[in-house]
Amino acid sequence: MHDIQLDAAGRLRHLITTEGLPAELITRILDTAESFVPEIGAPAKKVPLLRGRAVFNLFFENSTRTRTTFELAAKRLSADVINMDVATSSRTKGEDDLDTLFTLQAMGADVFVIRHPDNGAAARFAANAAPGVAIINAGDGSNAHPTQALLDVFTIRRHRPDFANLSVAIVGDIAHSRVAHSTIHALKTLGATDIRLVGPAAFLPADPSALGVTATTDIAAGLADCDIVMGLRIQRERIAGDVIGDIADYHRDFGLTEANLAHARPDALIMHPGPINRGVEITPEVAYSRQSLILEQVTNGIGIRMAVMAMIAGHRGAEPARPA
Ligand code: CP
Repeated sequence: MHDIQLDAAGRLRHLITTEGLPAELITRILDTAESFVPEIGAPAKKVPLLRGRAVFNLFFENSTRTRTTFELAAKRLSADVINMDVATSSRTKGEDDLDTLFTLQAMGADVFVIRHPDNGAAARFAANAAPGVAIINAGDGSNAHPTQALLDVFTIRRHRPDFANLSVAIVGDIAHSRVAHSTIHALKTLGATDIRLVGPAAFLPADPSALGVTATTDIAAGLADCDIVMGLRIQRERIAGDVIGDIADYHRDFGLTEANLAHARPDALIMHPGPINRGVEITPEVAYSRQSLILEQVTNGIGIRMAVMAMIAGHRGAEPARPA
């Protein structure tokens, strides 16, 4: 993937996955995002880095946070933004996804932000994109969601910058979660060594040690003294049949409830990529508690997506200028 994502000078050309992204590059994305996240109460800055460039949002799967924050981010970079409505596009007449790509490229597209239900779809688009056209993966199947992972580590860094001494518990449906896969890679690259996966056996990877993490079905053990607790939704759209049984039992055993969180550090921070399912993997009281970073994650997603698009398309041969 390294060769698809980076150009000969090691700069970001496409963003498909956090796997293999160098720590220095991830850090540069986070540092760039810092300059785009407004102070609380301050008006958002609009900068001209993508003026004259066309960003196409191409979402073959539903989204609230990712699609709208990419749109807002592109508009704050002064790009022309086109939100394709895939449900009413000529895909319904049998057009192949790559033919849609070629058609939109012929209109002068510079950046495609693509969400797709198929693992590997973003890499396929990148392999077929014209030179100078960038593909940003906004989530492909259960494979990867790199901008979510970057906003997750950005949010963690703002509150707990010492990754080497951080304990992170990721709780819920890890097996079907592109967020978990991408966030684990980003955390490890930034130096985190204590990453615990917690969930029923059906939601845990077969070989956690291969990922450099631990796994347990015991939430008390998994959350013991951890600093960050990240909940995940059950990805029902990627699961055939009923693998978890009674929801009330699941909520009791694996939900982010006050009872389960009592095992974590008293100042543990709560995260979730959203959308949350109340009463399943989290309670609304926990989701909107003082220790929750869930809405901050959403806000930070704008800065991260501005940084990624600015670094990919805001320059031709030079790093993008930071806003004043
Ligand atoms: N976290 C996330 O990807 O949310 P959406 O599906 O709403 O974009």
